[in-house]
Order: sequence, then C-alpha cells, then structure tokens
Amino acid sequence: MSSLKYIDELAKNREISAYKLEKILADDECNEYLFALANATRKQYAKSEVHLKALIEISNICQKECFYCGLRKPNKELKRYKMSAYEIIGYAKQAASSGYKTIVLQSGESQAFSDELMCEILREIKNTGMQITLSLGEKSYKQYLMYKDAGADRYLLRIETTNKALYKKFHPNMSLKNRIKCLVNLKNLGYETGSGLLIGLPGYTYKIMAKDLLFLKKYDFDMVGIGPFIPSKNTPLSNEKVANIKLVLKANAITRLMLVDINIPATTALESIDRQNGRKMALLSGANVIMPSITSGKYHELYSLYPGKFRLDMSVENTYKNFNDMLFDIGEKVSLSNGNSLRYNERMGL
Ligand code: 5AD
Ligand code: SF4
Repeated sequence: MSSLKYIDELAKNREISAYKLEKILADDECNEYLFALANATRKQYAKSEVHLKALIEISNICQKECFYCGLRKPNKELKRYKMSAYEIIGYAKQAASSGYKTIVLQSGESQAFSDELMCEILREIKNTGMQITLSLGEKSYKQYLMYKDAGADRYLLRIETTNKALYKKFHPNMSLKNRIKCLVNLKNLGYETGSGLLIGLPGYTYKIMAKDLLFLKKYDFDMVGIGPFIPSKNTPLSNEKVANIKLVLKANAITRLMLVDINIPATTALESIDRQNGRKMALLSGANVIMPSITSGKYHELYSLYPGKFRLDMSVENTYKNFNDMLFDIGEKVSLSNGNSLRYNERMGL
C-alpha cells in the first residue's frame, strides 16, 4: 500500500506513529513526493538561506571504541594528532575573515585538551565575534558548564541509535542512558543542542529507524545531523555494507517535516558516498546547513572517521566562495545571520 497518505498526515500534524513511519520508510514509491514536501518546508521556514559553518577537526585522539569508527582507540594504525591552541585560533581567525559566522570544533573523545586550555581557546575565538559549536563527545555537566561560560554556544552529540541492543553491541563501555543525560544537560545549560543518527549499521531495521526518528522529535532538538554508515578500515565493521543513501535522505526529509524550524546539516558522509550530488540532494530533501572542513590536508586525512571523507583542497576563503557559488547555482544563498536555528531563537525568546 502506498505511503502517500501517511506522508500527508506527517506533513499536516508534524507527528506520526512509529508504525506509520515504518511504512513510509519501507515504501520507495513516494520518495520524490516526500523530498519535495521537505524541501518546500525548508524554504518556507529557512527562506532559501543556507548556513555555512566552518569545521575544524582539532584532534583525532579518542578513548572510546565505537565499532564503526576509524578513530577508535584500538586502531593503532592511525597516527594521532592534536592541534596547538595557536593553530586552532589561527584557523578560526581565517574563518571569520572569510565570512563564516560559526566555527565548529570537533574531536574524538579525550582529555587531550585540558578544560582550562579549551576554555582559553574558546575565549580567544569568541573575540572574533563568531558563534562556537562544539562536538567533543560526552563530558560532565561541570565541563559543559565551563565551556558555556567560556563562550561555547552550541553542542553536537549524536545519539547514533536509540536501540538498546544495537547501542550496546557497537559502543563498548558506553551507555545510552549517559548519552541521553549529556543531551539533557546540554539543553538545560542553554546550549543550542544538536543530536543525530548513524543510519544503516549492521542489524538496523525500519522499525529501529522509526523509533530513532521519533526520539529526535520527542527531545525537540535544535539541530539534527543524520549520516550513512560507511565501513571504515581497521575497525570490526570494515567488511560490512555501506548504508543506503536514499534511506538517509528520507530520514532527513522526515526530520524536516517533524521539526520544521531546526537546523539540519547536509552531512559530509553523504557527500563522501556521492561526490557530485550528495550535498545538493540533502539540501533538496530538507537540509539547510553545510559544514565544510577547513582543516588543512595533513590533519584532515588523519581525521578518518570513515574512508573518502570529503574536503575541498582549497584555502579557507576559496572554500567559502566555492560553496557560495554552488548555492547560487541552485537558487539558494548563504545566510548572513549568526547561524542559530529558528527553533532555538523561539525557544529562548531571542
Ligand atoms: N560512518 C559514518 N559515520 C561515522 N561516524 C563515525 N564513524 C562513522 C562511519 N564509519 C560518525 C558518528 C559520530 C560522528 C562524529 O561521526 O555518527 O557521531
Ligand atoms: Fe571516538 Fe566519536 Fe569515533 Fe566513537 S565515534 S570512536 S567517540 S571519535
């Protein structure tokens, strides 16, 4: 049976049952309709404006062992690095002068940077006037508070999947409970909070995916990043299958229909699977943010979460210009606002 009426129900009510969501996911006949509705919703709220946010991969050191990730601690083949504060601040200044309004600092999960040093870096970057997004993994309430006080505005922490069995299987020594606690702490501290999913891990089903998507709705995140699983070498999942890209686009579109005014990045992993169209397809199915890596090649290559991670081999300034032109070509433009989601502004009364 066609899922058309369920898609209409979702677009109208902004919510739907897990059962009906599963039906939408399993049926590919109405994909174009779903994407078109999500795109129209994005345009209605975000007005054909796309946020460009500069990503700096500050360290690939990680203490965790997520089965899918090339940065996992047991991967002894990988050369580890940690940027100096001077390098990070240098990148941030270049980003600011190239036009970026937001800088995203991402790393594996570790204490490679002491909290004091991280706070110093944040305070320095804050002087550029940019908004700061962090993606440093699970930290304590106290650490999140310290970073916030030092100038961090936003935090990204994907839930990956809410299925207990899968979560346990692929995340040794981690707990779903703690991850949710971190997300709640971030929200309570006033961070613009982002979460997201890793689609297509071995054993993933439509049923699990439907529940994962409803979790994003329930927790009412300000930002949601959804990417495909890509098998990475030197990991226990290196011989598994790459995720279905259509399914990731559908997840983006469904998220847009449920959470109309949040920020949704066109994730790099999508572009890594499809160089020509990955990001454009994501925009056309509801995404409104692009986060180009501005980290130089020598570090970017070592930040190998998965193979083929995409990065334009250009200066920081030219990367900005390149995306500016790409967006112009598809009738969009770069947003000149600070990059907050409309959802967050409304939630905080801004
Ligand atoms: N394929 C796709 N995404 C991955 N990530 C880590 N490893 C992989 C992989 N093999 C994603 C996780 C994490 C983010 C930083 O990178 O979802 O949250
Ligand atoms: Fe570390 Fe994040 Fe990779 Fe897990 S996904 S191993 S926490 S970098």
